[in-house]
Parts: sequence; C-alpha cells; structure tokens
Amino acid sequence: MTDSASGVPVVQVEGLSKSFGKVQVLDSVDVSIQRGETLVVIGPSGSGKSTLCRTVMGLETFSAGKISLKGELYAECTDGKHVTLGSDHKRRRLAMGMVFQQYTLFPQLSLRKNVELGPSKVLHLPKQVVRERAETVLARVGLADKIDSYPAHLSGGQKQRAAIARELAMDRGLIMFDEVTSALDPELVHEVLQVMRELAEAGATMLVVTHEMGFARNVASRVIFMDHGSIVESGPPGEILDHPQHARTRAFLEHIMS
Ligand SMILES: Nc1ncnc2c1ncn2[C@@H]1O[C@H](COP(=O)(O)OP(=O)(O)OP(=O)(O)O)[C@@H](O)[C@H]1O
Ligand SMILES: [Mg+2]
Repeated sequence: MTDSASGVPVVQVEGLSKSFGKVQVLDSVDVSIQRGETLVVIGPSGSGKSTLCRTVMGLETFSAGKISLKGELYAECTDGKHVTLGSDHKRRRLAMGMVFQQYTLFPQLSLRKNVELGPSKVLHLPKQVVRERAETVLARVGLADKIDSYPAHLSGGQKQRAAIARELAMDRGLIMFDEVTSALDPELVHEVLQVMRELAEAGATMLVVTHEMGFARNVASRVIFMDHGSIVESGPPGEILDHPQHARTRAFLEHIMS
C-alpha cells in the first residue's frame, strides 16, 4: 500500500510554534502533506513561510509542537525544550530537500559535479550510478547540453533548474521550494515554474512557497494562506484564490493581484 493510499502523510506538523527572541514567528501551525501533493504556501512578507520550511527541514529549532515523517515522530518540543528524536535524524533530514531563492550551486564545480556531489559523498552510490543519475536529472530540467558548464556561465533560470536537478538527484521524499523564482528576471520565471509543474504532474511531493498565483491556481493540490505565523485558511486553489473566507486573505490577494 502506498503512503497516500494508507493516508499516512509524508510530513505532519502539529502545533508548531517558534519565536525569535520575543517575536513569535510560528504560532501553533498544523499542516500535513500527502504523498504526491503539491502544497502551495502564500502569505505576506514576514508571515513565517520560510521559517516554516526551515523548521520542517530541521534547520531551525522550535518552541512547541511536533513533526512526524511518514507517521514516525521526527522532532518534538514539549516544555519549551527542543528535542530531536532518534539517532537517525540525519538520515531523516535527507528525506527532504530545499531549493532557495538564491542559487546555492558551488561556483567552482561544473553542473555535473554540482549534481553528483550529494549522491556520491552523502548517499555513497556507485560511480556509474552517480554519473547516470546526474545526466538523467539534468536532462529532466532541460540542461543536458549544459552538463559541463559552470554556474557563472548560466542564466538565473538555468541555475535554479540546476539547483532543482541537484535535489532530484538525491531522490527526496519531499522537496520544498522557497520563492525560487523571486530573484529571477521575469522572462526566466516561466522556465523554472514549468520544470516544477512537470515534477508535480509526475507525482513529486512538494511544498512550494511562491507569489506566482498562476502556478498556485494551476498546479497546487492545496493552497495555504499564512499571516503572522498562523495558517489563516487552507483549501483547494479555487476556494482560497477565488472565494477566500477571511478578510486577511482577501486583502493579501487584492494586494498581490494589483
Ligand atoms: N534568523 C532570524 N532572526 C530573527 N528573526 C528572524 C530570523 N529569521 C526570520 N525572522 C523573522 O521571522 C519572521 C518570519 O520570517 P520569514 O522569513 O519566515 O517570513 P516569510 O513569510 O518567509 O517572508 P518573505 O515573504 O519576506 O520571505 C519575520 O518577522 C522575520 O523578521
Ligand atoms: Mg521567505
């Protein structure tokens, strides 16, 4: 039985709270992602979208709540003390990958080497498998002909597609995309969104933070609207984008569409 058939979410976040100093940036957030879902997170600047991703990734501590992966407790915080459970924390973190707004490719390495690094050094796959995997994923994002190029010789859109290829090469259970098109020139946005759309259609499990409402409308399984560290509402894209129930969602959508 697949995870989606069994109803066990790939990631389940319950009551997640986090503060930076006195500022509460996540306020009892509940969210789960089923296998094959594309969850799109929208919300104003500072609403906690990146912090949510980073916390789920295990890059941030938190002050209350728990995170489960495929039904197993991954990290939990009771009594204000952050606890990460299990000795296989690292392995579980490897189940998730993240693509950031700013390119994170190694400038001194070719695209092939950038993509091969994780499968080789972290997954310890055989050399031939690593090579073939790099070729496959770079072809998948339309960069087969750039495999020997260096990041400095690529456009912003190509760099972001390479960053996506690098996550694909790790064969992640979940990939999070945090505003991966925000730093791109407008004419390069489409090619990156197209790659993400193809991944979603191929059944990848994705959490996508974006201001691209066309993507949210056409690709999201569900849309979540966050404000001030809370999930204000969530539902199918048609519901949230066309018939939002909350004034804050309406105000945000009006602002972003104008
Ligand atoms: N390392 C940090 N130290 C202190 N405060 C932080 C830190 N990171 C984020 N914050 C604060 O947490 C809040 C949420 O930030 P976050 O980056 O998660 O928002 P966001 O929704 O991703 O915003 P944006 O749309 O601008 O990317 C903001 O008030 C921000 O200033
Ligand atoms: Mg952010």
